Amino acid sequence: MNITDSIKYVGVNDYGIRLFEGQYVTPNGMCYNSYVIDDEKLAVMDTVDKAFSEEWLTNLERTLNGREPDYLIVQHMEPDHSANIVNFTNRYKNATVVASAKAFAMMKNFFGEDFSERRNIVSDGEELSLGYHKLKFIFAPMVHWPEVMVTYDSTEKVLFSADAFGKFGTHDADEAWTEEARRYYIGIVGKYGAQVQSLLKKASALEINIICALHGPVLKENLANVIGLYDKWSKYEPEEVGTVIAYASVYGNTAEAALALADSLREGGCKNVVLHDLVRGDISAAVADSFRYTATVFASPTYNADVFPPMRQFITALVERNFRSRRVAFMENGSWAPMAAKVMKELLTPCRDISYAENTVKILSALNPESKMQINTLADELCKQ
Ligand code: FEO
Repeated sequence: MNITDSIKYVGVNDYGIRLFEGQYVTPNGMCYNSYVIDDEKLAVMDTVDKAFSEEWLTNLERTLNGREPDYLIVQHMEPDHSANIVNFTNRYKNATVVASAKAFAMMKNFFGEDFSERRNIVSDGEELSLGYHKLKFIFAPMVHWPEVMVTYDSTEKVLFSADAFGKFGTHDADEAWTEEARRYYIGIVGKYGAQVQSLLKKASALEINIICALHGPVLKENLANVIGLYDKWSKYEPEEVGTVIAYASVYGNTAEAALALADSLREGGCKNVVLHDLVRGDISAAVADSFRYTATVFASPTYNADVFPPMRQFITALVERNFRSRRVAFMENGSWAPMAAKVMKELLTPCRDISYAENTVKILSALNPESKMQINTLADELCKQ
């Protein structure tokens, strides 16, 4: 596949993967992108996951069409992109490996060698001419690991963006970018908003016509929107007014209360009311929506004088990703000693700039007229946001 006349796609699709990193569901698979820049000097941008070595090497061979690559540019050392560096260097013995010093240190750890006889250690801002294409390496530490750099091709205005702007899904997944890019960003890079902001600042000085990420599609349209969303996400700003009701229910009574709150919010005219079942659903989608919208309601039974474990997992994921600047409310269930609201609030203590609702719903085993009234009162309060 040609991205431009001289930039070609040699990545692979992983249709069979069910959990990326062993933790994120991937209903539409995943892809590991790799590119060839065909010029006087020929550069290969990154490798792919170890499960696709043969397919990638075949793609490469077909695209190279008898030529030998001059460079393997390694932007990121996470194994979904770096696992075939040794296969590459064994096959193409005259190619130079180009990466940051930190990436070479990681190669030593991963592979027991750091290619000292055939490497080019680049520094932030360093340039490499391929002939027609002039590449500039821009360090992007913690987007998503410390060794990461992105690469700007100033000739064709292409940003090779490493993990940034990637998404879940195969390269040919028939879906819009935003939903799965948000879930990917919040899940994988969400903790590192400050570092993403610093990359965006560097990128703002560049004219970018195409983004070639290591996951997801090649982006050629709506780049201002894509970059704008990254700006919002990395500043931890909500995208829209809306309320997420994230509930963990053992026997269905807390779920019933969550659904009743959703009804009450909708009747009250609240926009964008979104329910997430933390037990049977995808917690990473609930996390992404909590960053998307302005308010989150946490609903959990008391369990072992604590919260039900899926709720703890959800809150931990939010806290790890610097959840902040949101409106929060609680619904707790407890048959004899309700503790969940207190525990949930304690778990959220590290989060900055949280505005807690005045009303908390307390359910004693199952909904009754009093708790139904509390639900309506909470809905009234939340609809005023
Ligand atoms: Fe897709 Fe951080 O690796």
